[in-house]
Amino acid sequence: MEKKNCRLAPSLLAADFYRLGEQVQALEEGGCHLLHVDVMDGHFVPNISFGDCVTNALKGRTKVPFDVHLMIEDPDKYIPNFVTDQTEYITVHAEACTHLHRTVQLIHSLGVKAGVALNPATSPDVLDWILPELDMVLVMSVNPGFGGQKFIPSALDKIRVLREKADKVNPGLSIEVDGGINPVNLADVKAAGADTFVTGSALLGAADLKEQIKVFMNVL
Ligand code: DX5
Ligand code: ZN
Repeated sequence: MEKKNCRLAPSLLAADFYRLGEQVQALEEGGCHLLHVDVMDGHFVPNISFGDCVTNALKGRTKVPFDVHLMIEDPDKYIPNFVTDQTEYITVHAEACTHLHRTVQLIHSLGVKAGVALNPATSPDVLDWILPELDMVLVMSVNPGFGGQKFIPSALDKIRVLREKADKVNPGLSIEVDGGINPVNLADVKAAGADTFVTGSALLGAADLKEQIKVFMNVL
């Protein structure tokens, strides 16, 4: 994969919310490509994070596009709330959507790119009949719900399988990986075929954020 295609998507879940604006500014200045917005409802995942107050607070105050990851039940009900001029992706979980095709159509009808996320135990085959319609697939490399978990290595094979499938029917598809990504395992994930890398605790948990952005950018 070409270096220019790779993107770093810091997860705001790991931000210090007291200093959110300052940290977002540092991420922008460091050249981060997307702001990953982890929305959790306490039902689909066993944790509650935040809702559209975060995207609404940041819109117009940073130039970095939003990459919204909805870990919620009944996403159709809330998708419109996350649409802003700078929402580039809205990603829903395959496991949370009874009518996945309808949900993807809804996201597209709102002028936003559509992603579908897969939990670690979900087969990539569930996307066979929708892959050509998608802009991105998000491969979860931890069980969704919490930051700071350990990377599950089987995600590498899943990324390889998905890249192979997509190259046949949708070569422009982005593959994003989310969970336990750090500057050490990033190279393996990239070699497997992912191009968009979410990172939470390994980036925003660092003592020196600006320096840690540089570390990630050097291995991207
Ligand atoms: C997990 C979230 C991730 C996660 C990333 O449910 O979707 O975005 O917080 O954080 P780290 O990099 O700490 O695993
Ligand atoms: Zn996420």
